[in-house]
Amino acid sequence: PIVKELFGLSDLEDRIREAFGLKRVIVVPGDSDESAHVKMELGRAGSRVLRESLSPGDVVAVMGGSTMAHMAQQFSSLSQLKENWFVPARGGLGESVDYQANTIASELAKRAGARYRMLHVPDHLSEEAYQTIMQEPNVREVVDMIRSARIVVHGIGDAVTMARRRKLKEETKDELVKDGALAEAFGYYFDRHGKVVHRMATAGLRLEDIEAAEMVIGIAGGKSKGEAIASVMRFGHDDVLVTDEAAATEALRHI
Ligand code: G3H
Repeated sequence: PIVKELFGLSDLEDRIREAFGLKRVIVVPGDSDESAHVKMELGRAGSRVLRESLSPGDVVAVMGGSTMAHMAQQFSSLSQLKENWFVPARGGLGESVDYQANTIASELAKRAGARYRMLHVPDHLSEEAYQTIMQEPNVREVVDMIRSARIVVHGIGDAVTMARRRKLKEETKDELVKDGALAEAFGYYFDRHGKVVHRMATAGLRLEDIEAAEMVIGIAGGKSKGEAIASVMRFGHDDVLVTDEAAATEALRHI
């Protein structure tokens, strides 16, 4: 805390918390775009917040991405959290294995001594395939568990960067730009007002489940994500934001 006062980060935390009506904000010093060390610290701060938020019996739904992977790799707990479950918030979003929600959920469970379930359903499904797969009892069971999560933890990305990384079709990308998409989180795309401009039918977490979750924790940093973070915070369902100094400063320029 003394170091934070010195660098004025607690003031930045207060300003972000008030600007977006959040319950808690943690800002680590630096810019994750520029430094791998800062991104590591961001992950560490995120893992601490998650551990502090856990109660016995909680189901935690986690999203994917490199920031979430850093968070998972640094999760630690003194006691075995045998009563907790970690589940992926969605199926595959076209990410590499290391960054998939399934990988992150199992890594967290291993480090926590908790339990986990996997969701082996791709996210780009036709309506027909979706209806069929949802009738499988073991898929249904995992999906029901995901949708009942008390805690949701997610990363935030810049819309264009994420659309490219997820290999969306050219015409979808053009539409996103036309609709003013600035941010991606939970597999949804948001404009500057926090309005969802693009969504996909998913076997995982739907918008209504995110709205119903008791605690939504966003973890994202780097100056390049400042505007995207502001968009997702304006969507208004996050309770906690873990970010870095550069992203926080940039986000405040977009309120
Ligand atoms: O939804 C957002 C992305 O998962 C963020 O990914 O942490 O690798 O930038 P990233």
